[in-house]
Amino acid sequence: MHFFEHRDGELYAENLRVTDLVEEFGSPLYIYSAKTFRRHFEAFDSAFSGLDHLTCYSVKANSNLCILKLLADMGAGMDIVSGGELHRALAAGVDPSKIVYSGVGKRAYEIEQALAADILMFNVESLAELEKIDEIAGLVGKTARISLRINPDVDPKTHPYIATGLKKAKFGLDIESSLEGYKKAKELKHIDPVGIDCHIGSQLTSIDPFLEALDKIMAFRDKLTAMGLDIRYLDLGGGLGITYDEEEPPHPSAFGEALTQVLADQSLKVILEPGRVIAGNAGIMVTEVLYTKGGETKEFVIVDGAMNDLVRPSLYDSFHRIGEVTPKGRPERVVDVVGPICESGDFLARGRTLPGVGSGELLAVYSAGAYGFTMSSNYNSRPRAAEVIVDGDQAHLARRRETYEDLIACEKGCLDSM
Ligand code: LLP
Repeated sequence: MHFFEHRDGELYAENLRVTDLVEEFGSPLYIYSAKTFRRHFEAFDSAFSGLDHLTCYSVKANSNLCILKLLADMGAGMDIVSGGELHRALAAGVDPSKIVYSGVGKRAYEIEQALAADILMFNVESLAELEKIDEIAGLVGKTARISLRINPDVDPKTHPYIATGLKKAKFGLDIESSLEGYKKAKELKHIDPVGIDCHIGSQLTSIDPFLEALDKIMAFRDKLTAMGLDIRYLDLGGGLGITYDEEEPPHPSAFGEALTQVLADQSLKVILEPGRVIAGNAGIMVTEVLYTKGGETKEFVIVDGAMNDLVRPSLYDSFHRIGEVTPKGRPERVVDVVGPICESGDFLARGRTLPGVGSGELLAVYSAGAYGFTMSSNYNSRPRAAEVIVDGDQAHLARRRETYEDLIACEKGCLDSM
């Protein structure tokens, strides 16, 4: 459910006309709906109201400062994977005691930064990382709260690039190594093993893999309890899918209910790290049609948004619904929607049935709120798009469009030194 809908032949973001927003802020443009973000967070968080829990929004999905603030104001914690994300979360006013830090390659300075901020815990992904955190915590006179990220070897049945809980994945530790890891964690002086963590993949459309993983983890927790460890946190990661096309993922309430049934009697604080389910359908990317051309075998709609703005179609062949901002009821044709970048892989859709649109018209690319802007780049020296948050009848410029000067700012020093 989101608040991008057509009224009187015009696409609206909440109470504002998308056409007016593009007139003011330019194209391509990311538009987020604050009301949708709030609704998604509330639906997710309340699904776990039967459990002692903390919803740590996964910053990588959409890390705009205003989005982080909006969610933090609703009580969200954050799941981060870099010092940069920590910096963002703190700048947005997130309470550090609600921040968990995952990722296989934490740098020493990032560990120090997180210890200085006194975050809730590190989700540790290797024994070498565990030792490194202990060493740094010792140097700065702190104790680090940690979970080990367990790789439960469960098939999430999603795109291979975003399946993370299989044995062959680079993430986490298999169950045997984890046992060794907890023994070590118990001995290390500057480590406090307080939790267990797992994240099996993203865009899951069934609850079963989550339950399968949970089963393995609860059995593992019993072993840890027998070892005398007091495990207080259970972090189940993110991964709940959304509807891009025809998928029918479980509603957060069904997900919450299923987990609550298993965990209700456990004295554990449950941490969840949803990203896509909060942000995905709370944002669209609007792009202007530059040209159309009919090749011998194909028709192309060439737009001003490209793979540098939204890479998901090129990278995962993923589907994003595309529609006219101002529908005109023209006959449909099968087209490729492509951007200006010099790569055949630069497309937003291939073989898509769309009304015959013309130059200067606007298209909305839906479900672009998660892993859209955050995965954008400057490839082909294209300044990154602006981001706007609509809240009722207010539009907030959440990130200004980059300029040509921004493109060269970090390189200019070289001209003087050469
Ligand atoms: N927690 C951890 C440790 C993660 O690695 C991720 C996502 C999440 C939480 C949030 O997962 P979500 O609830 O959003 O599924 N770029 C890809 C998605 C990569 C996901 C990486 N990890 C895409 O565009 O589909």
